[in-house]
Amino acid sequence: MRPAPRTRTFYWHPSRFCWVQGLLPASLWGGTQTPTLEPMQARCLRYHRSRLTTLNNCPTPQLRRRAREGLAILTRHDTRCAMSQATEKLWTIGALLQWTSDFFTRNNIDEPRLSAEMLLSHALGCNRMALYTRYEHVPTTEQTTAFRELVKRRRENTPVAYLIGRTSFFSFDLAVSPAVLIPRPDTETLVEQVIRIVRQIPGWETPNILDVGTGSGCIAIALAKSLPGAQLVACDVSPDALTIALANAQSLGVADRIRFLQGDLFAPLAQPPTPGAFHVIAANPPYIATGQLRELMPQVRDHEPTLALDGGPDGLDFYRRIGGEASDFLIAGGLLIVETAFNQTEQVRQLFQANTQLGDLRIVTDAAGHPRCVLARKIGG
Ligand SMILES: C[S@@+](CC[C@H](N)C(=O)[O-])C[C@H]1O[C@@H](n2cnc3c(N)ncnc32)[C@H](O)[C@@H]1O
Repeated sequence: MRPAPRTRTFYWHPSRFCWVQGLLPASLWGGTQTPTLEPMQARCLRYHRSRLTTLNNCPTPQLRRRAREGLAILTRHDTRCAMSQATEKLWTIGALLQWTSDFFTRNNIDEPRLSAEMLLSHALGCNRMALYTRYEHVPTTEQTTAFRELVKRRRENTPVAYLIGRTSFFSFDLAVSPAVLIPRPDTETLVEQVIRIVRQIPGWETPNILDVGTGSGCIAIALAKSLPGAQLVACDVSPDALTIALANAQSLGVADRIRFLQGDLFAPLAQPPTPGAFHVIAANPPYIATGQLRELMPQVRDHEPTLALDGGPDGLDFYRRIGGEASDFLIAGGLLIVETAFNQTEQVRQLFQANTQLGDLRIVTDAAGHPRCVLARKIGG
């Protein structure tokens, strides 16, 4: 390809916050064509990338935003280059998987092989196992084009679950969109605890359970599926999250036992509270301290909903409110259980202890041995 014409003039790029545009081909900044870079241009690009990376960590939000925009442009450029170098090969399923997994590895994308397999099986409309039984098969141009688009977006750190619109939780499949947090395996600890405790207590065969901040509905749905006598209420402040949660409950056959309510924490429930409304209140609330949001991995920070992450100045805002209000809605002896970050459990335990209606406080660890959930019982059971 003939290099795009260039000038030797450096100048400050007004919106991209850099000063290299004059030296680099214009197609880098907006073109669909893949620019061919000369050594001098490649050096310039390396300098530019390191400068943007530094700016991305600076405290001014405007500079950070511009640095992120600049880095996104460079990422798109890298992807175009890598893909155009590879256009001559015969693209069997095996070759696509190998190339993509190497490409993700070079670009520090998590679980490169698994990501490649999940994206390719999604583009081909088959399951992952089928990729290996059709290793030498050459996908259609439409399928390869769809796959390349997914690979580009994954390279830009979009989580695989959002790209394919699905994830698995507690052994079933859930729809997800950027309106909901992608359910984490850690949250299965909370679900397992509730199931274990409810099954142990005589008289709790038909428990009423509240899931506060339901998101995709993962907790409420897992509990409904495992406890066939349970009736559930699932609340969230986000109407878009509730739309996903309801669709999940319908497709998993438990929508008739879960009532979805929109509003702020306990506000959508009867006010004043109906004492003894619930045997169990479960929550996995937002728990990242506001100031730490920008230190999260880009795939979380830039793609998952801030509403599902931001726990206020110290990350504990929701625990304070839940610890103060939940006991009003529990039966005597009822269970309050929340998920926390591993380093928050002790603080949350103390917050719950401040409510004299709550006792029997316990911390539960997850499968990796990290403190993960705080449990309390309403006094009087
Ligand atoms: C950490 S996510 C948990 C989602 C889901 N329960 C899970 O475990 O994957 C927190 C959820 O709380 C919701 N949320 C945030 N603020 C809320 C509020 N004031 N009242 C109710 N829900 C809220 C968010 O929309 C989000 O769905």
